[in-house]
Amino acid sequence: MRLPQAPLVRGELYGDGEPALDDPAELFHEASKLHPALAHRQSAGLTRLAVNEHLQTASAHAVRRNPQRRCHPLPAPRRPACSLWSALDHRRSRRDFGGEALEAARLAALLDAGYGLRDGNRRAVPSGGALYPFELHVAARAIAGIPPGIYRYDQELHALEEHELGDPWPALEAACPLPGLLDGAAAVLLLLAVFGRTRFKYGLRGYRFALLEAGHVVQNVALAAVALDLAALPLGGFYDAQVDDLVGADGVEESVVYGVVVGVAA
Ligand SMILES: Cc1cc2nc3c(=O)[nH]c(=O)nc-3n(C[C@H](O)[C@H](O)[C@H](O)COP(=O)(O)O)c2cc1C
Repeated sequence: MRLPQAPLVRGELYGDGEPALDDPAELFHEASKLHPALAHRQSAGLTRLAVNEHLQTASAHAVRRNPQRRCHPLPAPRRPACSLWSALDHRRSRRDFGGEALEAARLAALLDAGYGLRDGNRRAVPSGGALYPFELHVAARAIAGIPPGIYRYDQELHALEEHELGDPWPALEAACPLPGLLDGAAAVLLLLAVFGRTRFKYGLRGYRFALLEAGHVVQNVALAAVALDLAALPLGGFYDAQVDDLVGADGVEESVVYGVVVGVAA
């Protein structure tokens, strides 16, 4: 069925009038463009990496481990048979969470699909320069065998490192402008971007990469959720400072850029 086409005028797209001449989105997009005339300046990070062994070592091992914090080993990911095509066909943003606790093996499968290790330091998702800018966090409310709290997923240990114990729901609900969104869900996966991990090499374009890569991670989680018969909802609408606060991020050098709510469907 073809929908009737009405021409949109710019005012309808951008609100009153045109975007300002110093519109931050346009400025950022312009500033993060690659251009042959600027190739020398734009490749400075690549050169720095080529000659700096410390940078090479640090960037090949993107993990933030806090050995003094308690770690909860996760069980092997549960991997029910499901064809890629079936997962693609059935993925939907679902909000029908039933309140049931999620088994740790199913949470483990979601985390592993999103950011688990493959082939050494590689992941199931691509990453510009294999720099992996995220620290994947879990706000857990109802995971069997795991106390409610905020955790960091350590992909090398396949374990959850405690960040803060306690029910994260009141703070998360307050951070979501739409009421009721988290009702009945078991956990929210939060993608904390450590911008420096990609900016040191790619400059402003590294910020683009972080946002693009967040989409890869959430899509993998969403597809894995279909295979696991779970509901998943991408979460982009939240009060940034409040969510950053939950994971201890300053919101400048590091910030939560995306999330995905997961749980057993009603
Ligand atoms: C970047 C992004 C952010 C989103 N943020 C939210 C959100 O904050 N709350 C929500 O209810 N849905 C959110 N969604 C889900 C969209 O509403 C959903 O993808 C859209 O309605 C299409 O439906 P489908 O995913 O079932 O195909 C988000 C989706 C994307 C891609």
